[in-house]
Amino acid sequence: MQHLLSTEQMGRSEAESLLDDADGFLEVLDRPIPKVPALRGRTVATLFFEPSTRTRMSFERAAKALSADTLSFSPSGSSVSKGESLKDTVLTVQAMGADLAVVRHKAVGAPWRVAEWAQMRVVNGGDGAHQHPTQALLDALTIRRSLGGLDGLRIGIIGDIRYSRVARSNCFLFPTLGADVTLIAPPTLLPVDTEGWPVRHSSDLDAEIGSLDVVYLLRVQTERGGASVFPSLSEYVRRYGLTQRRFGMLKDEAVVLHPGPMNRGVEVSDVVADDPRCLVLDQVANGVAVRMAVLFRLLGGTSG
Ligand code: CP
Repeated sequence: MQHLLSTEQMGRSEAESLLDDADGFLEVLDRPIPKVPALRGRTVATLFFEPSTRTRMSFERAAKALSADTLSFSPSGSSVSKGESLKDTVLTVQAMGADLAVVRHKAVGAPWRVAEWAQMRVVNGGDGAHQHPTQALLDALTIRRSLGGLDGLRIGIIGDIRYSRVARSNCFLFPTLGADVTLIAPPTLLPVDTEGWPVRHSSDLDAEIGSLDVVYLLRVQTERGGASVFPSLSEYVRRYGLTQRRFGMLKDEAVVLHPGPMNRGVEVSDVVADDPRCLVLDQVANGVAVRMAVLFRLLGGTSG
């Protein structure tokens, strides 16, 4: 694997091998000194042109746990505000010695362009509404650790599918790992062209919820226009929110995931968000181990 840009072409054995490595790195993170020398001398740059809490910090934590150095870039306060291009920014960071860049950008395809321009390894940290592959891997790891595997599970991805890069990554990776995925959303929040996606569609959450093993909630992405395509937030909550009433309709062993940040009171009620079956913080913790596995794979370190 040279870069990690998308889950669309990822095979089952490659995904499972990354998840197996991540399981091992969770054990490292649980040690009194949670660090191994595997990537000593390597440098990981986080180039985030859009906001992030989880992905950026998680990659930085992962790099440090592998003893790599980190370079952190944000457009505000950088020379991007003086007109410097993405290409020149990338080549500048590479000239400082970065071996790998994690790129988040609002433009679909930006990480692919970076991979063409630079000699560095590239990880897609989220490009527009297109792909977010490490989110999908950490979600798969969380489901696997909680329910034992994805084979035969019914997973509902609920909410703003249209503007979601997380949905686009998960709706390929989850079926690759054996799950049966249904996208559940108002018709206006489903993408226009889902031909070739290995998923089913529904607009009736109440009809689906009792059969789901995993409820995967998505935030309405107001910054990408998500709230403009349904009548009101209260109408959205009434039809698609995971309220306490709907939570009570779930199978006893079903779990709830959310990529974060959550809009409490919209896609998920406050009480459900704090329930032990809502695995949001497990996802965050597993994300560090998944990103260690990805960095280790791409930078070819040796185990420590
Ligand atoms: N899930 C996710 O990508 O979160 P951040 O935007 O905080 O990185």
